[in-house]
Amino acid sequence: MGRLDGKVAVITGGASGMGEATAKLFVSQGARVVIGDLQEDKGHAVAASIGPECRFVRADVASSEDVQGLIGEAVNTWGKLDVMYNNAGIGGGEGSIMDCTEEVFDRIIAVDLKGVWLGMKHALPQMLKSGGGSIITTASVSAYMGMMGQGAYGSAKGGVVQLTRVCAVEYASQGIRANCICPGGTLTPILYENPHAPMPVTREEMEERLKYVQPIPRAGLPEDIANAALWLASDESSFVTGQSIIVDGGWMASARQPWGQMQAAAANGSSGAQAAR
Ligand SMILES: NC(=O)c1ccc[n+]([C@@H]2O[C@H](COP(=O)([O-])OP(=O)(O)OC[C@H]3O[C@@H](n4cnc5c(N)ncnc54)[C@H](O)[C@@H]3O)[C@@H](O)[C@H]2O)c1
Repeated sequence: MGRLDGKVAVITGGASGMGEATAKLFVSQGARVVIGDLQEDKGHAVAASIGPECRFVRADVASSEDVQGLIGEAVNTWGKLDVMYNNAGIGGGEGSIMDCTEEVFDRIIAVDLKGVWLGMKHALPQMLKSGGGSIITTASVSAYMGMMGQGAYGSAKGGVVQLTRVCAVEYASQGIRANCICPGGTLTPILYENPHAPMPVTREEMEERLKYVQPIPRAGLPEDIANAALWLASDESSFVTGQSIIVDGGWMASARQPWGQMQAAAANGSSGAQAAR
């Protein structure tokens, strides 16, 4: 028996990283999943690799029409929506407050904050129809720390934590829960294929650097986040709402290796590992 038997989920940003890992895990636990993403080739490939219980829809989470279409695909195909996972995100290296352009600032807020609000706004009516549901969002530890070069990203993620609380209290009595997950450094393309990174970094280099960010001496993995999402999506967390759950290997508990310091070390040509030592 699967932990999500019978449930229907939508996962944004499902073509890569945490969203992809979560789609795989959810289907393995009995859910049927629609993934939405801007990356069409990757999205179709991920859905095909998971099987008929997973479908892909091209959607920009910053577009109200696209988000409605994504949710509509789940409801039209499988009759309902139980889990909405607002996971798509961009940014995290936009430069200082002075350097970040208005265009970049607006796009990060549109995707990382408004996109989550749209996901909630359009999922809620479907969940009310079926008597409940679980809304999950990927926020970040940068919601809680002043991280250099993340004025837009950190503000969007902080906003997501607050939006989660408001959603939770507004709909708790109607059976809908809202929680967010705050990952620490997690080995996904957003870190090693980020066009805003101070210098190019390979997946292997990033994996090595991430070992030294937090007390648990390994990189966070997309599966670590998927496991948290699984619990929040399942009925095992039925008394949990309005929370932000930090999945960071103890980084927030220790403030051991500030992100800016690691990035600065990388820009100077030394590894994060050397900087940490
Ligand atoms: N990797 C980390 O260290 C880390 C840490 C904290 C929070 N996060 C957050 O985790 C979430 C998932 O990111 P990831 O690490 O798996 O990175 P990722 O780049 O592997 O995946 C993000 C996915 O979101 C998609 N996406 C981006 N903009 C979109 C849009 N407008 N509409 C639809 N899809 C869009 C991308 O195409 C990509 O497939 C993001 O919200 C990110 O901010 C990541």
